[in-house]
Amino acid sequence: MPRPILATIDPQAITNNLARVRLAAPDAKVWGVVKANAYGHGIERVYESLRAADGFALLDLAEAQRVRALGWRGPILLLEGVFEARDLELCSRLNLWHAVHCNEQIDMLATHKTQQPHRVFLKMNSGMNRLGFAPQRYRAAWTRLDALPQVDEISLMTHFSDADGARGIAHQVKVFEDITHDLPGERSLANSAASLRFGQDAVVRGDWIRPGIAVYGSAPDFPDHDIAHWGLQPVMTLASRIIGVQQLQPGDTVGYGSSFKADVPLRIGIVACGYADGYPRHCTTGTPILVDGVRARLVGRVSMDMLTVDITDMPHAHIGSEVTLWGRASNGALLAIDEVARAAGTVGYELMCAVAPRVPFAAMA
Ligand SMILES: Cc1ncc(COP(=O)(O)O)c(C=O)c1O
Repeated sequence: MPRPILATIDPQAITNNLARVRLAAPDAKVWGVVKANAYGHGIERVYESLRAADGFALLDLAEAQRVRALGWRGPILLLEGVFEARDLELCSRLNLWHAVHCNEQIDMLATHKTQQPHRVFLKMNSGMNRLGFAPQRYRAAWTRLDALPQVDEISLMTHFSDADGARGIAHQVKVFEDITHDLPGERSLANSAASLRFGQDAVVRGDWIRPGIAVYGSAPDFPDHDIAHWGLQPVMTLASRIIGVQQLQPGDTVGYGSSFKADVPLRIGIVACGYADGYPRHCTTGTPILVDGVRARLVGRVSMDMLTVDITDMPHAHIGSEVTLWGRASNGALLAIDEVARAAGTVGYELMCAVAPRVPFAAMA
């Protein structure tokens, strides 16, 4: 009998979420962002639902190969471009479009031997200060690329640092626009937050949007807004079961470090899920958990293989009761991954990417 923990993927939710994002930027094409193994969901598991996107955007050449192996003949974009010159051979062979964010990548292209000229996305650093050409160097990079026989189409891209927050995107849009307004080529600027919040602005939505997190059912601007606000549905459910029950008396403590002490009699369920499954150890007493679809609270420290939940008010809870760590319970109740992430001081992205390899996955029936 395997441990009862299971991650379930809901393909219908992906379909719904993709449609919601499209609605926010109706005339843009959509990159389904599947980097980091589809944000931890598994590329192969999300592929059928994400085929409704216009292309797949990712980082790893190995992941690009997996998407081609699934039969995808449409666009694939390498968001960080190539890491070394020989990667370009695979780009030619698999017809991968790739970002170009530095002169070294242009140097590699200039010496690349190919019959098939490449489509590239020239990336501007419009303020994020991660990847991309500084605005004052961008046009020179464009001119260099334009002169290369290895390149047949140049698209323009940038990435927002604050699309989910108070600072917003206007300052970066202005930088991008000032430099690129008269350059030809398709544009790609918006991630999930920019698409949902500012997708009505033609410049922001551009020709391609690049939503990731929204497609996987996490609100990019939580806690300002939750998934219900954006009409998104949770894609991943992490569920387990109660495997033990303890009765506590006042003064009894729970778990490592005795960080939780009962001041009244309590009933505690022991759940088969710990940080070795990807559940954050930073979650503290009070983090919400669903037991049989009813909200309860985590108590004490999360350990490697187990965590503890207060089931005092749930007399029917017993060994075998369903526990939802995040996602949707069998009775339809929702515990958004964003709520759990916040309790751990992080974001939904990190939790979904961190589900451990030992956790089995299944598709929702
Ligand atoms: C270049 C780029 N585009 C798009 C995305 C998707 O962002 P999000 O998941 O916030 O929609 C990311 C993710 O970090 C990214 O790095």
